[in-house]
Amino acid sequence: MSTLNKSKFITFEGIDGCGKSTQVKMLVEKLKQLGVDVITIREPGGTRISESIRDILLYRDTHELSERTESLLMTASRAQLTKEVILPTLKKGTWVIADRYADSTLAYQGGGREIKVDWLEKLNQFATYETVPDLTFFIDILPDEGVRRQKTKQDRIEQAGIDFQKRTRELYLKLAEKYSNRIIVINGQEDIDTIHKNIWKEFEQRMLEK
Ligand code: ADP
Ligand code: TYD
Repeated sequence: MSTLNKSKFITFEGIDGCGKSTQVKMLVEKLKQLGVDVITIREPGGTRISESIRDILLYRDTHELSERTESLLMTASRAQLTKEVILPTLKKGTWVIADRYADSTLAYQGGGREIKVDWLEKLNQFATYETVPDLTFFIDILPDEGVRRQKTKQDRIEQAGIDFQKRTRELYLKLAEKYSNRIIVINGQEDIDTIHKNIWKEFEQRMLEK
């Protein structure tokens, strides 16, 4: 398993409640058991500055936040996290597993908020220092299932409603088609262990056998 020595950047994506955090934890545990040096991050957030930006973005009462400001803040949080954490971590040989990254902006702000995706792609290029994940798992669930799994206290974006989640999912599906060599679609409607097994199968094929 010599390929484990080269650090990789892996991201998890999907609509609210798709099960990303659960699956990130399971994958990271497995990697640690194999002796891989790995850190987990989640967006928006992950640095002192990015966490302050997260507070503005998710606070339930900031209804006046415009969709363009939202896009700029999401990508500002990403720029700080990329420069301060992701790039130095990968450079020293440690793997990075991310609960959301640039595709979230394309799906949520492009799909959900209906901002032109070309603009968001440019913003992402700038914010990520043109860093592209080695592999992305898009955990696909139906928006109704996401609502069923939702916590009682919703944040500002979760309050946007089911049609917003539907548009977001559609954009994710388009991205999965466009970037099919990077984005793997995983059926998120199955049970937690089956999903983990499916993710591991794809992961082994692509990350361990090259
Ligand atoms: P996300 O990080 O994508 O918002 P979580 O992993 O936090 O999702 O999962 C949201 C909720 O759904 C949690 O209560 C979790 O236990 C539950 N959950 C996760 N995966 C599944 C699954 N495959 N089937 C049913 N419930 C799930
Ligand atoms: P969070 O509580 O981290 O939710 P989740 O567990 O679903 O990841 O909240 C993050 C919210 O921010 C989530 O609704 C998705 C949204 N978001 C965007 O709209 N654009 C982005 O670029 C990112 C990173 C997140």
